Amino acid sequence: MSVVISGIGELTTNDGPPLTSAALVLDGDRVAWVGPTSEEPAADERIDVAGRAVLPGWVDSHTHLVFAGDRTEEFGARMAGKPYTAGGIAVTVAATRAASDEQLVNGLRKHVAEAVAQGTTYLETKTGYGLNVEDELRSAKLAAAEVDEVTFLGAHLVPAEMSTADYLALVCGEMLDAVAPHVRWADVFCETGAFDEDESRAVLTAAAAKGLGLRVHGNQLGYGPGVRLAVELGAASVDHCTYLTRSDVDALAQSATVATLLPACDLSTRQPLPNARELLDNGVTVALASNCNPGSSYTSSMAYCVTTAVLQMGMSVEEAVRAATWGGARALRREDEVGVLRVGARADVHVLDAPSATHLAYRPGVPLTHAVWRAGARVR
Ligand code: NIG
Repeated sequence: MSVVISGIGELTTNDGPPLTSAALVLDGDRVAWVGPTSEEPAADERIDVAGRAVLPGWVDSHTHLVFAGDRTEEFGARMAGKPYTAGGIAVTVAATRAASDEQLVNGLRKHVAEAVAQGTTYLETKTGYGLNVEDELRSAKLAAAEVDEVTFLGAHLVPAEMSTADYLALVCGEMLDAVAPHVRWADVFCETGAFDEDESRAVLTAAAAKGLGLRVHGNQLGYGPGVRLAVELGAASVDHCTYLTRSDVDALAQSATVATLLPACDLSTRQPLPNARELLDNGVTVALASNCNPGSSYTSSMAYCVTTAVLQMGMSVEEAVRAATWGGARALRREDEVGVLRVGARADVHVLDAPSATHLAYRPGVPLTHAVWRAGARVR
């Protein structure tokens, strides 16, 4: 079954400059043709989008969607001036451990559906609210059935019932062995109150030895070793990057590690927004992601992240849209297949109810998603 999406007013492909008066052919789950409307080939179905803007679907490369419970109270306290700390994770761990599989799957599906309805077509999520072998394994298996990419984040926090040394041995041993077959990535929260540099290195090294790709939560709440470690170990991405020194920026610029910025999290935790301009001006590859989770960033809206990046972080619309599509794909090492609209790429398409992507920033907060195809299937 092929479909031609015709009458595109502005087509962002991430494979060259935006096209105007363009068309796109989807055949099965792939993009089969891209070009001017005047040359569009015939297809089984023709959809005229009447001058609307079309983008690759958002690639959300950082979420934590296997959870139960709610942290509204903690959010309220934060808005009244209480600082965010890693310790809040324990509240979600208790609720997640107590939840049934059915409750966790329903929550996961609800949040994935919410994201897809807003134009997200490729999504990563993490374990990290189980923190024992049984619940980390359960989280990984449930996630693997619902999302595109799964990350093992056993090293999110040391659970109250264990010493740091014992928990590290578990994460690097039995827990890693159990979870590794179900995930592609491993991650560590390298931050004061979570894991220090040596502990983080131990976790990442053990995961790499198991053949997992690496990601790091780093430099979220203060300056620290996360970025340096991510670069040293060849991580695909270091996420947060809110507090960066000049040498962190230089290290990222000379590496293949993507700096994934999570502006919704910084706003929701009353942190400063990251210096995207310094990163981009120094040649660092930047991604934008939602960090959807119940503690620090309870939004699945990639559009909100793009809008914030443009209005408050000095990114151009083109840079922000690219960071939320191609950048996320690069952070997941999937840029050949998603985050791009070229022949052979996955047919992940986001049609805006607007003539240009600029409207994402020009009309902040207005839901602009008009239609979405995910792997060639119309999902909205
Ligand atoms: O990316 N920083 C660590 N993990 C999450 C927050 C998790 C939580 O507070 O529940 C984050 O912000």
